[in-house]
Amino acid sequence: MGETRMDRGRFLRAGAALALLPLFGGCGGERLPDYPFRLGVASGDPLPDGFVIWTRLAPEPLAQDGLGGMPPDRKVGVRWEVARDEGFRRVVRRGRVEARPELGHAVHVEVGGLEAGRWYWYRFKAGGEVSPVGRAKTAPAPGSGEGLSFAVASCQAWAGGDYPAYRRMAEEDLDLVIHLGDYIYEEEDTRTLADFRRLYGLYKSAPGLREAHAALPFVAVPDDHEVDNDWAGAYPEDYPELGKDEFLRIRAAAFRAYYEHMPLRPSALPRGPRMRLHRRLRFGRLAELYLLDTRQHREDQPTGRLIAPQEPEALEPGRSMLGEEQRRWLFSSLQRSGARWNLIAQQTMLARYDYDTGAGVSVNHDQWDGYAAAREGLLRFLRERGPRGPVVLSGDWHAGFVNDLKADFGDPASETVAPELVTTSISSGCPWADRVERALGENPHVRYFGGDRRGYVRCTLRENLLRADFRFLRGAGRIKTDASWAVEEGSPAARRA
Ligand SMILES: [Fe+2]
Repeated sequence: MGETRMDRGRFLRAGAALALLPLFGGCGGERLPDYPFRLGVASGDPLPDGFVIWTRLAPEPLAQDGLGGMPPDRKVGVRWEVARDEGFRRVVRRGRVEARPELGHAVHVEVGGLEAGRWYWYRFKAGGEVSPVGRAKTAPAPGSGEGLSFAVASCQAWAGGDYPAYRRMAEEDLDLVIHLGDYIYEEEDTRTLADFRRLYGLYKSAPGLREAHAALPFVAVPDDHEVDNDWAGAYPEDYPELGKDEFLRIRAAAFRAYYEHMPLRPSALPRGPRMRLHRRLRFGRLAELYLLDTRQHREDQPTGRLIAPQEPEALEPGRSMLGEEQRRWLFSSLQRSGARWNLIAQQTMLARYDYDTGAGVSVNHDQWDGYAAAREGLLRFLRERGPRGPVVLSGDWHAGFVNDLKADFGDPASETVAPELVTTSISSGCPWADRVERALGENPHVRYFGGDRRGYVRCTLRENLLRADFRFLRGAGRIKTDASWAVEEGSPAARRA
């Protein structure tokens, strides 16, 4: 930096003038090969006094070696600043971090000391270049009854272009995006950290995705395709020839790349093949949001045939979906929560779905249906311990659903414990929609099925009402509400709004 070479007298004389300069005007930093902010910026995991801001320096995101066009052995200083206004006239926080080659020159800054429930703008500078400006909102103050609006998104298979659903989402009046996984889809030859980094580079080349990240904070958890289709714990599905150790090496690379490209707290940095993803976030006295990890700690699916007559093994008590540590954490958090709404955000569908149009029961064993006893345990807990306003938010199906979560899915007259809202995909197709549609009669607890459409769920939460709009793309990139559902305070079932 130029200032350090000044003598003290000159520094003092220049001080008054420097104070008038915006921070980024005066510091050059080392030159980089090219514009380094091609992956955009992002924010996430808001708290009442701050949030995480993210970027990764990558002048050449698709570089074969996975280094993004950055020097392999050089740390690079990155300056950041957070302002109250888009024009950065009122900067309230600033700092400098090092982008390190071990992390693909990604930076994750935990910004603190901000005011609750308000919007801020942020940007980075490195190598004499300034990043695009991002916007993030802090969570409401602990006692606040302020409303919350958010989108639930999942499944964004690369289709070689852009994401119109994200462009529309960026225009919505929202506080937050909850992303339930399949942020990328691994390919047959995605095995190393460099392979995974290139995929994130490709997906983030879509302007719509970068726009959504710049406009809104994301709270994200991965599902299967960030690693391997339908993987479970230490078991791959697509690499039956691989030993456990080899799969765990792929999992470690996949987790590392996920961390490097998402606005996660530094505490989420994976250790080898392990990554702590489950966490909770509080929004005033209105809501507690739990993010679950239903992949890393689950046992293997009871059968390799995903949609098949229900395996007796799926019903065995003790078959775990969350792992014991996460299950205990969830139950004790729910029990202690004083929030009006308890939003359980997770990947696969919790409700049973019976594909058999005859007398039998056929289910998808990759869903909670393959872990039915674990599901019954969660629903029993919700029923008996009764945390207020439980709502389950799910993804993975590439189609929207509203479900009644039943005490006994085999008995339509049994008690409804909580509603489940399943979001459709941002871009991934749903070739199984017809098969689902044919079996709707077998599943009276499914109150709404949105079919093979792309979009997201937009939720508006107030003290006494949750409203969910299923937003689907129509022609020419327009978005429309296909159906609106509401959950009233004290009611375990959604109704048409
Ligand atoms: Fe998906």
